[in-house]
Amino acid sequence: MRFESIIETVGDTPLVRIAPHVHGLQNIDLYAKLEFCNPFGSLKDRAAWNMVRPGLSAAVERGSQIVELSSGNTAKALAAIAGMHGIGFKSVTNRMKIPEMREMLLLLGAEIEELPGQSECLDPTNPEDPLTLFHRSLDEPGNTYLHTDQYYNARNAEAHETGTGPEIVADLDGRAPDWFISGVGTAGSSTGVARALRDRNPKVGVVGLVADKSDFVPGIRNIDEVQEVGIFDPLTYDTIEKVTSAEAIDGLLTLVRRCGILAGPTGGAAYFGAVRYLRDIGPQLTEPATAVFIVCDRVESYLSYIRKRRPELLGLRPRNDSAASVTPEELSGTAAVGVAEAREWMAKERPLVVDMRSPYAYAALHIEGSINIVDELFADLVRGGLPFSKARPVLLACPVGEQSLRYAALLTRMGHPNVRSLDGGIIAWRDAGAPLVRE
Ligand SMILES: Cc1ncc(COP(=O)(O)O)c(C=O)c1O
Repeated sequence: MRFESIIETVGDTPLVRIAPHVHGLQNIDLYAKLEFCNPFGSLKDRAAWNMVRPGLSAAVERGSQIVELSSGNTAKALAAIAGMHGIGFKSVTNRMKIPEMREMLLLLGAEIEELPGQSECLDPTNPEDPLTLFHRSLDEPGNTYLHTDQYYNARNAEAHETGTGPEIVADLDGRAPDWFISGVGTAGSSTGVARALRDRNPKVGVVGLVADKSDFVPGIRNIDEVQEVGIFDPLTYDTIEKVTSAEAIDGLLTLVRRCGILAGPTGGAAYFGAVRYLRDIGPQLTEPATAVFIVCDRVESYLSYIRKRRPELLGLRPRNDSAASVTPEELSGTAAVGVAEAREWMAKERPLVVDMRSPYAYAALHIEGSINIVDELFADLVRGGLPFSKARPVLLACPVGEQSLRYAALLTRMGHPNVRSLDGGIIAWRDAGAPLVRE
């Protein structure tokens, strides 16, 4: 196999059968589409190349920089492509949550600009969101960037409609699978593949997977975010199901340990989601059926993600002082206060208000008088013991009120007598029209 350029190796990824004794499904052949075999490491290589191609020679001539709102795989592919063509790449994001990915981008020569933002991805419904403002500024006259615009660019889904989808059909001897299961980030891959498969067989069942609310599976959206933006169209999916980070890691473990497929968390989530969805369908089938899920990228970039959630998998002692160790009983015994109640309590007892969002989100808008301790730092702080005086009540606030409830339960376990969590988080506070201030 000989190529003139690494770009020529994008696509034509393997479709690998998962051994039936591993997945345990009846009457269903399950296949993994190994998108991590793309040269820059993920399914995003296809979209990145397809989106950047039309404007590339003009950008090279002008010496323009490529820019994309991405903290992950799209940025990685674009950074590599920019470098090959002697131009720069800038990744604009509000929070780089995966340290390995950040280092990888820097190694590739990317510039990283972190903007304040309230959710992890673009929220065009919120005119205050700095990421949204930046996104809008890229469409204004005078902008010299080559903006690939993955959330809105039809060429994102097109890359999968003309590449990934037809490859699956070809590898199944010209037949579309009966089900297709995939994580939803920008929705480009699921939309494009679904179109190609339904062209062949309109009855293909499409299962979209998103993260559980306030949980984090890097690369896919959570159930609230998914409705908000982009090329996402609910009609693409027969069903949208939630996966937790714990389930994504369980799926990843099966692929890594039993199939030799070194999948990252979204590949794990897709495997887990596929087996969960198909388990009850299999026994009812009268004829053998086929399902395909996508393995988006490889596991190596996510070792710190795994270490944080399942340290025992990496030979480390599990921690009983982490938010993950909180039991359902502890959670239900912890006070979550609504916005009105919280405001009353704040006026009366002056609790210390701790905002656990990113410094950028905090800088954009926060509750007056609150202090900012981002969740990762909070986790480190509690390892050293109770970080606040027991004499002062504490109100914890995070984006949607789930993380803060876990930490409130943990602080209670550690002996703090009066910790509460802001129910619905800063989003509920904002939606209730309660005052927020800017740094
Ligand atoms: C690891 C990973 N999995 C899944 C996805 C979802 O793909 P899409 O944006 O096509 O919905 C992405 C997108 O960035 C990703 O990086």
